[in-house]
Amino acid sequence: MDRFVIEGGKELNGSVVASGAKNAVLPILAGCVMAEGTSIIHNVPDLQDVRTMIKILEYLGAKIKFKGGTIELDAKNINRYDAPYEFVKTMRASIALLGPLIARFGKARFSLPGGCVIGPRPIDLHIKGLQKLGVDIKIEDGYIVADAKNGLKGNYIFLGGSFGSSVLATANVMCAATLAKGTTVIEFAACEPEITDLANFLVKMGAKISGIGSPCLTIFGTKKLKATQHKVIPDRIETGTFLLAGAITGGCVSVEKCQPLHLGAFFEKLIDTGVEVITGKNFVTVKGRKNWKSTDVVTLPYPGFPTDLQAQMMAFLTLADGVSVITEKVFPERFIHAAELNRFGASINLDGSKAIVKGVKKLFGARVMASDLRASAALVLAGLAAEGTTYVSRIYHLFRGYENFEEKLRSLGAEIKREKDIT
Ligand code: UD1
Repeated sequence: MDRFVIEGGKELNGSVVASGAKNAVLPILAGCVMAEGTSIIHNVPDLQDVRTMIKILEYLGAKIKFKGGTIELDAKNINRYDAPYEFVKTMRASIALLGPLIARFGKARFSLPGGCVIGPRPIDLHIKGLQKLGVDIKIEDGYIVADAKNGLKGNYIFLGGSFGSSVLATANVMCAATLAKGTTVIEFAACEPEITDLANFLVKMGAKISGIGSPCLTIFGTKKLKATQHKVIPDRIETGTFLLAGAITGGCVSVEKCQPLHLGAFFEKLIDTGVEVITGKNFVTVKGRKNWKSTDVVTLPYPGFPTDLQAQMMAFLTLADGVSVITEKVFPERFIHAAELNRFGASINLDGSKAIVKGVKKLFGARVMASDLRASAALVLAGLAAEGTTYVSRIYHLFRGYENFEEKLRSLGAEIKREKDIT
């Protein structure tokens, strides 16, 4: 296993280019299953999660070439519709294949994903939505066994849950509905830009969807989808992470080829702290400062503050003047990083789904352990701002979702290297 060694306290300056969005490309690759031809997807980030999705698709029978950020996916010979435990446990997002496989084969056999470190991860909304389309679903030996014997039929589906909309349940039900007989209305659909990107991709495949980007999607079922080409949107979470790397070190960092319109709630909070945010059509610059103010953050489904930037924002707020309250309304238990951040000298107390962050004057280099993808990024941010040396172990989590992470940080002036973790 590798770890990062970071010499903190260096101001980060310069610009990086945003990679393609992980959370858009995964359901898009899953969606390719529904066309019996070769789909071409551009702006694909080279991430561990993308490699895992490729492995699963190859297991199902797809032929895939991945070169220079482009994937060519020939789905013609896909002849399996099962996803064993080994795949699902490595990457929860493999559940995005459920809807597309049912649409193509009328059935699927999928290992049930368990919980994960960010809390329980139920799939009741996926199941409910697919059942409404006429899929018979049984749970057998830890597997979801789905069968649409009588074909998929359009329906009215209210897809809201206790925590609001669900991104991947929306992806699954929307995909399945494109090949259903008749019209489907999804009420309380997720509005995340990655769902919009998937919907735009499906439309290029020949799907008929209206209300794209809104919480009410109408899908007019069609008989066939064709392979197409698509360029994946930029990764808003990666963009936010690099902007925070600039802000937490008091530097000036730009992210190019990004989509600032996807980060409104995040910018509002940065501006609250006193950081300057300059946006253009496809770039953002953040001008950090020596001292910044505390602010309260509530994570919500899009267009609210993204839960996937909560840990990184927490790292930033550990050094703010004053007390910040972070309320996690998407994954109420997603706070494992708080204890690790306290190892840097931060002062964070948890109270249910709230984290109370008392700003401290300084962070100090520490030995910390990454627990999940975004928590890993938060620990790196803290390490960049801390005085002295930081060791972040278990960084394999990070490579699931950040392309060329340390290279990009080094290009901004960070002192970060990867080495074998022998501890
Ligand atoms: C996706 C993202 C993940 C992000 C999350 C929330 C991908 C690959 N992953 O995950 O990075 O953190 O959205 O923005 O796109 N829920 C239910 N029942 C369900 C499904 C979800 O109650 O059937 C709950 C979840 O426990 C959570 C909330 O709904 O509290 C949102 O989860 P969801 O949007 O489904 O997350 P994912 O789609 O798994």
